[in-house]
Formats: sequence, structure tokens, C-alpha cells
Amino acid sequence: YTVDWDASAAEKGGFRSFMDKEIHDQPHAVADTLLGRTDTAGHLVLDEIRVDEAVLRRVDKIIVVACGTAAYAGQVAKYAIEHWCRIPVEVELAHEFRYRDPVVDARTLVVAVSQSGETMDTLMAVRHAREQGATVLAIVNTHGSTIPRESDAVLYTHAGPEVAVASTKAFLAQITAAYLLGLYLAQLRGTKYPDEIAEILDDLREIPDKIQAVLDAAGAIREVAVAMKDVPSVLFLGRHVGYPVAMEGALKLKEIAYIHAEGFAAGELKHGPIALIETDQPVFIIVPSPRGRDSLHAKVVSNIQEIRARGARTLVVAEEGDEDVLPFADQVFFVPRTASLLAPLLAVVPLQIFACELASAKGLDVDQPRNLAKSVTVE
Ligand code: G6P
Repeated sequence: YTVDWDASAAEKGGFRSFMDKEIHDQPHAVADTLLGRTDTAGHLVLDEIRVDEAVLRRVDKIIVVACGTAAYAGQVAKYAIEHWCRIPVEVELAHEFRYRDPVVDARTLVVAVSQSGETMDTLMAVRHAREQGATVLAIVNTHGSTIPRESDAVLYTHAGPEVAVASTKAFLAQITAAYLLGLYLAQLRGTKYPDEIAEILDDLREIPDKIQAVLDAAGAIREVAVAMKDVPSVLFLGRHVGYPVAMEGALKLKEIAYIHAEGFAAGELKHGPIALIETDQPVFIIVPSPRGRDSLHAKVVSNIQEIRARGARTLVVAEEGDEDVLPFADQVFFVPRTASLLAPLLAVVPLQIFACELASAKGLDVDQPRNLAKSVTVE
């Protein structure tokens, strides 16, 4: 009598790869990162941020330092934190930050974002910031790692262990935690949009179910990914918070499928990238909500029209019910409605699945891509 037991398959919980499993863990990653961080009245309780409130009230600038996917999470958070808190936020790759004589002082809050908590480039940026007198807050997933130990405070993401080299659930948890920080600062310092803060917290609590809905509808994106396994290049366009999502979508494809991919700000298209568009060039477009305050939706829809007219194959990620995109889309992947600032938590999911599925279809090792390490502990 033998039991068919494959330890590695068991760890993957029935999924083909850790990445696939971690993509499916994302509703939990976000829910767990939110858990216990609000009181019954709906106020944020982040006691774990052991920085004197007076210091946080004095902050006049935030600099997010991070690498790779974590830096894109920072770029998403910049839009939200500036909007809620009216504090200028810069996002800088940690390895660039240290070597440019950054303007940092005791009123600067440096936020170091890292899944592993061990990325040497990010750690060196933390050390540099503290030497200049800045307060450093770490947003990190791995307990007991070096970056939180060397920071003034830490806000842990509760994504659980991430094994696949390409980061997925940590990214969503990082955005969630950075948003909680932004909302907390807004609560502490006052905000022009008090109603919005409560609404966003409610919307955030609905995000895990909405991510699940995206996962449940992933059949279409999987089919497209398999059919596209031999394309030489894929472009990604986004605007506002969709811009870092576009760059993250491109990064996933480079990392695990070894396909040339680039993310652009959709508004930049006419300033250069549109020259790349030729017949059958696949382009993902992350479309902002049609219910947004401004005219971004119309502008991005007209970008889709422009590239389609030049022969591009348009793969559109849009909000459920957005019929404006239909005439210009070769494929549409709808995601549930949510607040504009929360849309990245949904829109990135089809892009992660696309990369994972395409890389699998190419027969590649999705979890251990060539030349990359999960945590880069050298400069
Ligand atoms: C490496 C990984 C990336 C990750 C980056 C930052 O390059 O391959 O997936 O985004 O490091 O890692 P961290 O652990 O600091 O978030």
C-alpha cells in the first residue's frame, strides 16, 4: 500500500505553481492586511506605528523607497496619499535615492516598501535616510527581517509567505498597507475629504470579494495568454493609478515569460511610444472608471481608438458595464466597480494571470525564472 504524496504539490495546494497559488491567495492577502486595523466606529487603529503623533503631524514630505514590484506599489500609493493628505509624495527606486544627495530632513517620512525586508538596495536607502534625520517607516511582509529592525516603525503586510520570485499577493498587500498609512495620516492631520475616508474604508473591505470575482472570471484571460505565447513584445498603457499597474503588468511578463514588455503612461503615447504600434502589436490598456471625476476615461478610450486604427491588437481591462470600450477592443476583461483609487487592486489581477499562464504555456519555470532571485541581498 503506497500513498501518492508529493510534498511540493501539496505545498502548492493543488495549483500548478506557487505563483498561481499566490495569485489565488490575494483575497486573503488583502483581507488579512486590513484585519484588526479599524475599530467598530470605522476609525483606523494603527497603534503598531510607534512614531510620535507630533512627528507625523510635522511631516512635510514623504519619500517611498523600494525596488521592483514594491516600487510600483509605492507609485500607486502616491496618488492616494497626496490626494487624501495633501503631503507631497516622491517615489524613488532605492538604489537611485542614495546616490543623488536627496533632500531629506527631520520632517521627511521615508516609507521603505519590501516584501522580503532584506533587499540590500532598500536597506541602504533606509540607512541613508536615517543618517539624514528622517523618520523611516517600513511596509514589509516578512517578520523579523532586517529592514523593519533598522526602521523607526513598521506596518506589516499580512500576505503570508510568498514563494514565487515574481511578486503578486505581496503587491496587493503593499498597496493596501500604504493606503491604510495614507488614511491614518489623513485621520491624524485632517483631510479635505473626510467623507471619502470612511467610504474608501468601506470600499476596501469589499475588495477581497471583488478580487475573487476577477479570479472566478479568469478563463478568458487564460485562453488569450495561451494563444499569445509566441508574441515577441507586449505593451501596456495606463493612466493615473493605472500607469503603475501598466508597468507592473509589463514587469511580470519580462520576469517570468522573458517577453519584451513595456508599460507607458497613456498620455505619453503621442510623445513617442505610438511609433511602436504596427499591425498585430498586442497592447493592454488599463481603462480608468467612466465614473471618475475627470475626463480621463474619455481620453484613454480615444487612445484605444488611435492604436487600433494603426493595427494594434487591443486587450482592454475595464470596469464592468463600460460599454464605451467595446467598439475598439479586440478583447475586454471586465473587473468589478470600485473607487478609482482602489481599481489597481483589481486591474492588476488579469495581468498577473496573463503572465503566469503565458509563461506556463511556454513551458517555463514560473516560480524560478532565470537570472532572478526572490530577495536580492547584494547591492
Ligand atoms: C527582486 C524580486 C522582485 C521584487 C524586488 C523587491 O528583484 O525579484 O520580485 O519586487 O526584488 O523585493 P522586496 O523583497 O524588497 O519587495
